[in-house]
Amino acid sequence: PALAAQVNPLIAAHRERAGALLPLLHAVQERLGHVPPMVVPAIAEALNLSRAEVHGVISYYHFFRSTPPGRHVVQVCRAEACQACGADELLAEAEALLGCKSHETRSDGAVTLEPVFCLGLCASSPAVQVDDQLHARMTPARLRQLGEQLEI
Ligand code: FES
Repeated sequence: PALAAQVNPLIAAHRERAGALLPLLHAVQERLGHVPPMVVPAIAEALNLSRAEVHGVISYYHFFRSTPPGRHVVQVCRAEACQACGADELLAEAEALLGCKSHETRSDGAVTLEPVFCLGLCASSPAVQVDDQLHARMTPARLRQLGEQLEI
């Protein structure tokens, strides 16, 4: 019931709009931190889609999470400009440092590591976002510092 109370107003606000699915999923994830599988049937019904279609969109876009994120979310940009400036090494470093794989949440729930595609800092790549904070020209050493500051 608590979940429905949070999601139903979002559904109501979006259902009449054309192309409502993506904006609605964004709104749900913004509110809840993820898109719980339990809300898929209500979304599908409201938008006249099948559950499979809604699931398909959630899994197609890596941006959407089906499980709650860790207390901190570390996003490493893997788009072109960052790739050219060492994003792969940075992501490998982040995996080693944080103790969890890309797309995963560490078992203690402290952190989720996610690859993302362009954080809008291409001119100062490689870019990383930690929670709401963007960081340009990231290096493994700075990433370690950030981890220490956040105690992750
Ligand atoms: Fe990484 Fe744009 S390519 S911020």
